[in-house]
Amino acid sequence: MIKVLMVASEAAPFAKSGGLADVVGSLPAALRAFDCEVAVLIPRYSRIELTSARRVYDSLPVWLGTSMYDTSIYQAEAETPFYFLEAHVLYDRDGLYGDSKGDYPDNARRFAVLSRAALAVARRIFRPHILHCHDWESALAPVYLRTAFRYDPTFLGIKTLFTIHNLGYQGLFAPSVLPQIGFDRQIFTVDGLEFYGKVNLLKGGLLFSDALSTVSQGYAAEIQTEEYGFGVDGVLRARSADLYGILNGVDYRDWNPATDAHLTAHYSAQDLSGKPLCKKELIREFGLPEKAADRPLLGTVSRLASQKGTDLILEIAPQLAEQDLYLVVLGAGDASYEAKLRAVAAAYPDRIRVEIGYDDALAHKIEAGADIFLMPSRYEPSGLNQMYSLRYGTVPVVRATGGLDDTIDGGTGFKFREYSAPALMAAIREASAAFENRPEWEGMMRRGMQKDFSWRASAAEYAALYRKLLDGGGNTLHPLA
Ligand code: ADP
Ligand code: GLC
Repeated sequence: MIKVLMVASEAAPFAKSGGLADVVGSLPAALRAFDCEVAVLIPRYSRIELTSARRVYDSLPVWLGTSMYDTSIYQAEAETPFYFLEAHVLYDRDGLYGDSKGDYPDNARRFAVLSRAALAVARRIFRPHILHCHDWESALAPVYLRTAFRYDPTFLGIKTLFTIHNLGYQGLFAPSVLPQIGFDRQIFTVDGLEFYGKVNLLKGGLLFSDALSTVSQGYAAEIQTEEYGFGVDGVLRARSADLYGILNGVDYRDWNPATDAHLTAHYSAQDLSGKPLCKKELIREFGLPEKAADRPLLGTVSRLASQKGTDLILEIAPQLAEQDLYLVVLGAGDASYEAKLRAVAAAYPDRIRVEIGYDDALAHKIEAGADIFLMPSRYEPSGLNQMYSLRYGTVPVVRATGGLDDTIDGGTGFKFREYSAPALMAAIREASAAFENRPEWEGMMRRGMQKDFSWRASAAEYAALYRKLLDGGGNTLHPLA
C-alpha cells in the first residue's frame, strides 16, 4: 500500500474554481484501485462548512521564519480523508485567491503556510510515502522538505511529485516576501526561486520535486517550448527526463447524462431521446426563441480568461449572429470579458445569451442541452469540459492544443490550429454544416459518447509513477537540496 498526501488549494466538492478541484476531488478515490491510500490537504476557506467534519488536530503550530501560525486540522466525512487546514487569519475569507479588488495581498504567506502545514500533517497525522503537490499554491512543500527539513529523520525516504495544471499561474511575488515565507536570500538565485527579479513559487516546485507531471502528453511537450513555457521552459527542458504527461480523467458519477440530477430528461448513446428535451429546457432557461430547438445550439462554460480564447468568441460574435444558429455562454472571471460578453448579448439578444457567474447546475445543463461545445483555448493543459461534452453527445469544437488536441479527433469533434477568429469561425461553419446531416451527426455524437476518459487509466499511470519514485527512479536532486 502506497500512502500519498496530496496538497492543493482546491478540491471538489468543497472548494472549486476550475478543473484543479475536479482532479483533486476525484483522483484519490480512483487511486484506491491501485493500492494507494490517499489523503488530501486543502485550506479551510469560509465557504467550507465544518458541520459534518471533525477536528482531528487542535493547535498545530506552523512556523514560517519567526512567525507562528496557530492552525487546526479538520477531516471531512468522505471516502478519502480530506483534511482542511484552519487558520482564521489566512483563509477565513469568501474568495479562494482574491476578491473584487484582485488577488489577496498576502497570498504568498497564505500558500506558504499551506505548504509548510503539509509537512506538519505528514509528521503528526498522515505519514505518506509520496507527497504529491499541485500547482504553485503547494509548490513550496518540496522546497521546505529538501531545505529546512533535509536532515529530519521523520521525512526520510519521502518522495515528491509536483503536478503542473496550468503554467500560466506561477505565484510571482516581490522579493520582500522571502522572510515571510521562511527563506533568506540564499534561495533567491537563478537556480532557486529567483525569476526575473521576482520570487517564483512554482519554480521551487519544478526544481525541488523528485518528479514532475502535467495533465496531458501534449502539454508536457508544449511547455518545453518558448511559445508555451511562460518563461520556465528552460527549467522544464532541464528536467525533461523527470517530466511525465498524464491526462486528466472524468468522474462519470458526476458527469453522466443517463443519471445527471441537474437534468430534466436523461439519455445515453443507446437512447438519445432525452437530449432534445434538455435542449428545449436550456433554450427556455436562457430565453432564446423556441425555433432554436431545430438549429445548432452552441454552448460554452469557462473561466473568462485569455487562456480560454474568450477574445475569439467575442470577435466572432457579430458573424455568429448572422448565421442561423444560437449561442449560450456561462462564465466568470476577467471583468472586461464579462462586460464585453454582456454587451454582445445585449446587441444580439435573439441569437446570443450570456450568464455571468459560477453555476454548477447550469454548467451541467449546457453540457446536456447544447449541440456543439466551444473551447477555442489559447492553451489548455488538459481541459475537462471537452471530455464532459463528449459524454453528453455535445460535439466539441476545439483549438488543437494541449489536452484538447490529445482528446478530440476527426471522428468526435472539430479542431482548428491557428489561434484566430477566422480559424474558429471556419471550424464552427464546418460543425454546423455537419449538423444538417442528422444520421452522420448522431454517429459523431455516439462515437464521442462511447469514449472512455474515466480515471482508471490515468490513476494507473500515477500509481506506476509513485512506484517508480519509491524504487529510486526520478530526480537528479537539485544542487541546493
Ligand atoms: P480550467 O481548470 O482551466 O478552468 P477545465 O476544463 O479543466 O478548465 O475545468 C473547468 C471546470 O470548471 C469544469 O468542471 C467546468 O464545468 C467548471 N466551470 C468553469 N467555469 C464555470 C462556471 N462559470 N460555472 C460553473 N462551472 C464552471
Ligand atoms: C487547469 C487547466 C485545465 C486542466 C485543469 C485540471 O486549470 O487549465 O486544462 O484540466 O487545470 O488539471
